Amino acid sequence: MAVTADIVVAGGGVIGTAIAWRAAGAGLDVIVVDPESGDAASQVAAGMLAPVSESLFGEDALLALNLLAVRRFGPFAAELEAATGRDVGLRREGTLAVAYDPGDHAALVRLTAFRRSLGLDAEELDSRECRRLEPFLAPDVRGGFLFAGDWSVDNRRYAGALRQAMQAAGVRTVHDRVTEVRIHGGKVCGVRLAGAGADGPGVGADGAASSADGGIDCATVVIAAGYASGQIAGLPGPLRGVVRPVKGQLLRLRHPTGMPPVLSHTVRAVVRGTDVYLVPRADGEMIVGATSEERGPDRTVTAGAVHDLLRDAMSVLPVTSELALAETCAGLRPGTPDNGPVVGATGIGGLLMATGHYRNGILLSAVTADAAVAFLTGQRPALEWEPFSPRRFMVQAGST
Ligand code: GLY
Repeated sequence: MAVTADIVVAGGGVIGTAIAWRAAGAGLDVIVVDPESGDAASQVAAGMLAPVSESLFGEDALLALNLLAVRRFGPFAAELEAATGRDVGLRREGTLAVAYDPGDHAALVRLTAFRRSLGLDAEELDSRECRRLEPFLAPDVRGGFLFAGDWSVDNRRYAGALRQAMQAAGVRTVHDRVTEVRIHGGKVCGVRLAGAGADGPGVGADGAASSADGGIDCATVVIAAGYASGQIAGLPGPLRGVVRPVKGQLLRLRHPTGMPPVLSHTVRAVVRGTDVYLVPRADGEMIVGATSEERGPDRTVTAGAVHDLLRDAMSVLPVTSELALAETCAGLRPGTPDNGPVVGATGIGGLLMATGHYRNGILLSAVTADAAVAFLTGQRPALEWEPFSPRRFMVQAGST
């Protein structure tokens, strides 16, 4: 018998699970299809909710969306914690951005002037004031700025809570991969899966089985498959090449038993022209990241990246060398040509995109879920989403 649902969400990272949870809460019958290979970008993230310290020249529309996202994140996380009884590790201390040498300081001052010109708050601190906030910083740190509007969350706790909430809300999951969106008469009618048939490999399911042809019948599909979104057949041509993998390597360090936390704020540092961030967790973990590499879908952790991240971290926080190196990992951010997400209708009836979140997937997950549910229920999403429609790429390509 064919499996049916109102909505299939292709991808079970934080974007897919947040959408599924909220869509189920709106009364929709949802199946999430995800291979559960454990390689979602959200598992490798640092969990920075950093609209201010991640804002760059020329990304004003993205900044407006990210500011909406951080305002929305608190109530969304509170609802998630209430629904699951789990603590997602939200921290509101802000980001301390510091500079290592005079060139780094000049670059940070320029970027901060730009951020202030957009109305963002930044408190300038000299070296001593930085160390008053974070006593383990190296005395060589030139000075910096406190961006009080940035938060962080424990990305793995958050992802786990979303999964639990989604399942409790009645969302079914299929452990497989969507290979194709089936379209009939200009409208979605289902998806094909990689597992060949109901008993085929990779079709293990929680509360749902695959149909005899390895597919699911549905009138709506949400593409939330991160960097792999473009590999799904059936998308309009221009959307297939829009998302690319951008490799990020990061480290998870742990305080040895009995050692007090070495940071209370997220610290971002410019060290000899390179960015490094250090994100503390309440449970004694500290994340150090991240590289940004255009190497296709490669997840190799390289000795050079581990060396460079540790060298830069130790330049500004020498005590880093006392911490245990608990994990090294590499993830693939879903990058787009303008660094903005791709969320909304595609021109094919019932086909929605929710991908391309690049460096801000955790931050944007709550507002993406809100926007997706708005699209799914015939409401208008927040105005901040307008610049991020998939149609911007289709227009450029001469398609509609
Ligand atoms: N948002 C941090 C990163 O992408 O590395």
